[in-house]
Amino acid sequence: MTFISALRGVWSRVALAAAMLLAGLALPALAQEAGDPNFIPASQDPARTPNGLGQLPPMGWNSYNKYECKVTEADIRANADAIATNGMRELGYRYVIIDDCWEGARDKDGNLTAEPTRFPSGIKALADYVHARGLLFGIYSDGGIKTCAGFPGSQGHEFQDAATFARWGVDYLKYDWCEARTRNSEEAYSLMADALRATGRPILFSMCEWGLTKPWLWSEKIGNIRRTTGDLADAWSGVFLHQRGVMQIVALNEPLWSYAGPGHYNDPDMLQVGNGGMTDAEYRSHFSLWAMMAAPLIAGNDTGHMTPATKAILLNAEVIAVDQDPMGKQGRRLAESGGAEVWQRDLAGGAKAYLLFNASDKPTPIGVDTADMGFVDGKGPRVRDLWAHRDVTVSGKRYIRTVPPHDVVMIRVG
Ligand code: GLA
Repeated sequence: MTFISALRGVWSRVALAAAMLLAGLALPALAQEAGDPNFIPASQDPARTPNGLGQLPPMGWNSYNKYECKVTEADIRANADAIATNGMRELGYRYVIIDDCWEGARDKDGNLTAEPTRFPSGIKALADYVHARGLLFGIYSDGGIKTCAGFPGSQGHEFQDAATFARWGVDYLKYDWCEARTRNSEEAYSLMADALRATGRPILFSMCEWGLTKPWLWSEKIGNIRRTTGDLADAWSGVFLHQRGVMQIVALNEPLWSYAGPGHYNDPDMLQVGNGGMTDAEYRSHFSLWAMMAAPLIAGNDTGHMTPATKAILLNAEVIAVDQDPMGKQGRRLAESGGAEVWQRDLAGGAKAYLLFNASDKPTPIGVDTADMGFVDGKGPRVRDLWAHRDVTVSGKRYIRTVPPHDVVMIRVG
């Protein structure tokens, strides 16, 4: 990155932070929504059909949370190697995604090229490397003139870039929203969705406009996942420049439960599990909440060097099974009192997942009525503790567990 492009990156970040702060303040609808009565949004074009991908929330790994703009092809290869050998691939982590900062200058014909010092072998070679390990390959671009880090964006090059991605073997595109200025988001995302479809290659489309223009209202047939918030910090709680902690991100994503479904999931951002800014209990809660919210599970840590606790979280097959439930229904918070929360998610075949989540700083008993869990006269379905990995016995009117601070008990009923 040159000094000038680094500077541009800084300015995009300032603009991004301002936009996200405004979004957080829940300002009134944007001008484009006020609308001309004759305007037919592209998403409501009856001829538009979804691309059929993303029937389950996508799982994989993305470079940004750990490597940010320093990412190299060696980092991508190392993580692909790790995911292919440490059990993650078998559990469903399939997409290996390079985030921003892989881009070099466009060539004389306007084609994207890879940044030559950190990606000297080029993107096609990297995609081949990832595919050879039984994984899928994802990349990043932006609907503006520049990406958030100041590299070339795809505005005005949508069909050309989609064709390049398809030629390289890309299976997943994350499409960001920096430097998009006055562009209409629905138009911009529809255009890239069309460009991806035109390649004939199945490319999962991950929309990243941070919830600014309420994409849950218009993107069902356009994108497979849609960011609903700004970036997730590696922090339990707090609002930072353009980032928020787990608690603030959850508060924004949870109310959108009714908009998610197979092929169009809400995305509260990539996982921070294992990056060091939270306790193991907090990472367990973060992962469980994402599973309850049918969120994409895109790991963001160094998967080649994980502590046993990080591994136990990211490789918890029973929690992953909740996230990947085929019904694809996002769970929700049923009750909250003094930081004690009860969440529920309906699962296929009449089963249910419950999350007893203690957001407070003190150990707290949290309970669910056993009648709600399907128990009559002491008899009911199988109840499984998904973190202890054992069946539990349920009796009486309430099933109560004392949950440590910032931790969870997650159970599956039926
Ligand atoms: C924005 C996105 C992030 C990441 C960075 C890359 O902040 O929301 O997820 O892609 O840009 O610069």
